[in-house]
Parts: sequence; C-alpha cells; structure tokens
Amino acid sequence: MIDATIWGEPVSPFYSPNVTAQIASERWHLDGYYEIRRAIFAEEQGLFDASDVDEHDKVATPIVALGHVAGMPDEVIGGVRIYPTERGTWFGGRLGVCRRYRSRGVVGTSLIFAAVSTAHARGCTTFLAAIQLQNVAYFERHRFACLQPLEVCGKPHQLMEADLAAYPPIVAHALQPVDGARVVAELRRLRAA
Ligand SMILES: CC(C)(COP(=O)(O)OP(=O)(O)OC[C@H]1O[C@@H](n2cnc3c(N)ncnc32)[C@H](O)[C@@H]1OP(=O)(O)O)[C@@H](O)C(=O)NCCC(=O)NCCS
Repeated sequence: MIDATIWGEPVSPFYSPNVTAQIASERWHLDGYYEIRRAIFAEEQGLFDASDVDEHDKVATPIVALGHVAGMPDEVIGGVRIYPTERGTWFGGRLGVCRRYRSRGVVGTSLIFAAVSTAHARGCTTFLAAIQLQNVAYFERHRFACLQPLEVCGKPHQLMEADLAAYPPIVAHALQPVDGARVVAELRRLRAA
C-alpha cells in the first residue's frame, strides 16, 4: 500500500466499514485467501518456508472475509478453513486477517462465526482448533474452551473446543453471508447479558 500524505499530514489507509464472511465462491476469493495465508503463516510468522498448503486443503472449505466498496465485495481481507476429520468432529484452522484490518473488532469475529456456524450446519458436533498461545484469550472471548496443550510446527499451541450453542447452524454461503456488523452487535449483547 502507498503511504500517502496530504500537505505533509499522514493519510489513514482506507478500510471498508462493511465486512462480510462467506464460503469462497469465486476465483479471486480463492486467490486472496491463499495469498493472505502465505503472507501470514509463511512470511509473517515463519511457520512454513514458502507455502502453508497441506493435505487438509484437499477437503477443507475455504471461508473468506470480504471488504465492501459501494455495496459490492471488493477485497479479500481475511480467511479461515474448516474440515471434518472423523464422524461429527470438525477442525478450524489458518485463521488470519490482513494487517490493515486487524483489531477493528469485526473481521476475525466474523470469520470465526462463519466457520463454526457452517460446520455446525453440516453436522459438526465437536468443533476443535489448535490455537497459538498468544491467541487463547481471544478464542476464550469467542466461547472456546481449552482442552489440552499440543505442539504444531514446533510451536506450543492449545487445543480448544467451541461452544456450539453460541453458533447457530447456518451455512455462510454466497447468498447468505455473515454480516460483520450484525455478528459484532450480537456478541456485545451476549457479553452484556
Ligand atoms: C488473531 C486474529 C485472527 C484476530 O482477528 P482480528 O480481526 O484482529 O480480531 P477482532 O478485530 O475480531 O477482535 C478484536 C478484539 O480482540 C482483541 N484481540 C485481538 N487479538 C487478540 C489476541 N491475540 N489476544 C487477545 N485479544 C485479542 C482486540 O484487542 C479487540 O478487543 P476489543 O474488542 O476489546 O477492542 C488476527 O489478529 C490475526 O490474523 N493474527 C495473525 C494470525 C494469527 O495469529 N492467527 C491465529 C492462529 S491461532
């Protein structure tokens, strides 16, 4: 991105206030999804040399967060994947939000909601994720509970399980995307209750 100034004053980078999350359904969704994964898990975190793609991607459902401009989806700003392992058990993984959109209170939250709700609708009875230690508190806020410590890519992680009661069974497909603003409002309501 270009660092711009107007008459010497820095200009904030653009970010769309309208965010949705859905199963990737177009070529540019998939391109953006794999690019964000590569940028985060290979380049930023150094967990992989060049590519983080593995055998789970053959069966995983890719979910993307999209920033909208003028009412139209315009950019892939985050992603996550879900896949079943055994009867009723699903895993979520590779959750990542592009740097510009982090901690805006909506992108990661929308992706988690889309991921767990979609798995729930597809028959998931146990939703698990191996979570990096620095993100455990974040997932606890999203109604995940710690099960046991484990190691992934040589780094300590925590195996966590989602409380499916907090995630209605709804497939986040292209015609029914998760609306970021609504999910965040609902989360705030639940926390206040
Ligand atoms: C972790 C990650 C997915 C969170 O997504 P995000 O879009 O930045 O998070 P949200 O905007 O939905 O949530 C923001 C809130 O969570 C908090 N938060 C964000 N990351 C957190 C963390 N690691 N631990 C605790 N709280 C965290 C923010 O402070 C903010 O709190 P507030 O609502 O009280 O202000 C994102 O930071 C990311 O992509 N990180 C790099 C990749 C990564 O670590 N992936 C997870 C692998 S397990």
